[in-house]
Amino acid sequence: MADPFVELRDVTKAYRRDESEVPVLNGVDLTIGRGERVSIMGRSGSGKSTLLNILGCLDVPSSGEYRLDGHDVSHLSDNELSRLRNATFGFVFQSFHLLKGLTIAENVELPLEYCEGGASHRDRALELLTLVGLEHRLSHRPNELSGGERQRVAIARALANHPKLLLADEPTGALDSKAQRAILDLFTRVHRSLGTTLVIVTHDPKVAEELGDRVIHMSDGRVGG
Ligand SMILES: Nc1ncnc2c1ncn2[C@@H]1O[C@H](COP(=O)(O)OP(=O)(O)OP(=O)(O)O)[C@@H](O)[C@H]1O
Ligand SMILES: [Mg+2]
Repeated sequence: MADPFVELRDVTKAYRRDESEVPVLNGVDLTIGRGERVSIMGRSGSGKSTLLNILGCLDVPSSGEYRLDGHDVSHLSDNELSRLRNATFGFVFQSFHLLKGLTIAENVELPLEYCEGGASHRDRALELLTLVGLEHRLSHRPNELSGGERQRVAIARALANHPKLLLADEPTGALDSKAQRAILDLFTRVHRSLGTTLVIVTHDPKVAEELGDRVIHMSDGRVGG
């Protein structure tokens, strides 16, 4: 691959439960190019979310190597990892993880609190919420939005820090076909205009095909073709 951005080599992950270890990833090799769009499919429990968490440095491998943009990130401290997360990744979680007590504008501003200066946070939030078509809902709270609208807020928030890698776990899982269409178009627009590398986990082959330059399949904690 000409310009690898993500390189996983023989990555394993096991969770300790009581006295035993539960193996979840069993030697994952995966290379993703800069600006590439990759869809991940696989049965429930095959390790997709675990892999996504490792890619986004929310979790660390039990063994193996993770190189991000040419740097080994397998052995960073918690502080180094959180700095890397803020500077590099945007996450879209299936359950949104929006804060109920905040307006949607405040939710989108939140990641910016951890960054330095630049345009005012409110301006950036307005820009992002306009991108996702929710500029008329700034002062609404998440429980005053539909599921599809909440998902668009979650995407706007994930983009706040200009992520180089956008990771999305079942971003269209709970949506009807019209709301799903809006999310798919939004990801396509984001990729076209910002060139962001995308990794999307989905159960839906049509979503995988449309959003991925490449679809990879996980089974038994490994990545196939
Ligand atoms: N913190 C944990 N402790 C112990 N086992 C875990 C933990 N997190 C995940 N697992 C186990 O790891 C396996 C893979 O989980 P993971 O969430 O990665 O699956 P998934 O492919 O995302 O599934 P789904 O499609 O249902 O979201 C499951 O069998 C799960 O029980
Ligand atoms: Mg999952």
